[in-house]
Amino acid sequence: MGKRFSFALGATDGQARTGVISTPRGDIRTPAFMPVGTAATVKAMLPESVAATGADILLGNTYHLMLRPTAERIDRLGGLHHFMNWDKPILTDSGGFQVMSLGALRKLDKDGVTFKSHIDGSRHRLTPERSMEIQRLLGSDIVMCFDECPALPADRDRIAASMRLSMDWAARSRAAFGDRPGHALFGIQQGGLDPELRAESAAALRAIGFEGYAIGGLAVGEGQEAMFDVLDFAPGQLPEDKPRYLMGVGKPDDIVGAVKRGVDMMDCVLPSRSGRTGQGWTRRGQVNLRNARHADDPRPLDEACGCPACTGYSRAYLHHVIRSQEMIGGMLLTWHNLHYFQQIMAEMRAAIAEGTFATWESGFHALRAAGDI
Ligand code: GUN
Ligand code: ZN
Repeated sequence: MGKRFSFALGATDGQARTGVISTPRGDIRTPAFMPVGTAATVKAMLPESVAATGADILLGNTYHLMLRPTAERIDRLGGLHHFMNWDKPILTDSGGFQVMSLGALRKLDKDGVTFKSHIDGSRHRLTPERSMEIQRLLGSDIVMCFDECPALPADRDRIAASMRLSMDWAARSRAAFGDRPGHALFGIQQGGLDPELRAESAAALRAIGFEGYAIGGLAVGEGQEAMFDVLDFAPGQLPEDKPRYLMGVGKPDDIVGAVKRGVDMMDCVLPSRSGRTGQGWTRRGQVNLRNARHADDPRPLDEACGCPACTGYSRAYLHHVIRSQEMIGGMLLTWHNLHYFQQIMAEMRAAIAEGTFATWESGFHALRAAGDI
């Protein structure tokens, strides 16, 4: 029976929860942060290094992989896990959200979306059925429903119509996914910032029934306060006994605020992308290693961090390799950032289990407010 997908809630502290998602490819400790491996790689990291930072699962993208190298080719080569040498769980996003960000290159209808590749301009089409097929060919462990998310700001009618289309697509995704023991399909709640539309979306998803529920349509420019306002009610509209996944979030303080409000899973390109531009995220805040003030600094980025960048190198060295555009600069800072994000998750899991989340959260904010980085 260990071969099936399941979620066991361990402890709660206020709205915050800790638990374990079990899959045939291994357990995912929650709250979980998923590094983003869009093109079958977490950029600048070997898979074993990603695992060494503490990640139990990573995220892949239907949109990018269907264009290059194609889902059919990955299937022929043994599936995404084998292809990229990562044997732990993989969650794949469904493509809808990524296509929407193409703007003028796409055309939406009630059946799906037609778009032009950002790589070579070739024409492609995604529907709920095709997205399910691609995610099956990839061998994804957690498959996301095909959805649509309007760019904000949008008026209420537009957001309502878009949400209802996504709920229709959620039902089609469920039907097309079929019966696949050990694999999970997650629904995606939409509805913008509106509590009633969010409730309608949650009810539609619950009626269909999913192994997990995502909160979509946030972190699209509404700001942290508006996002937290939605997270004050949205997790409570979703089933208590299933994982809740906040898509595309976020900065460390966004992640902490989301976990406090009952979110179990998150993903974001931030630690990897900003690492490649010389940004280091630490418990004291953000450090730009490009800054000239680091040029003669023999101290590590964070003396309390156990990652390779902090145990083996000075800020002066990191500054030098980033400024010189040496590949090791992006590699070291990506590793540090992913390590720090996983450190936050591990500390939150422990604090929730001990019932000390509020104290932990105060410490988290106090250290950042102290400055001196
Ligand atoms: N990534 C961030 N937000 C979203 C969303 O609303 N839908 C999907 N599919 N992916 C996302
Ligand atoms: Zn470090």
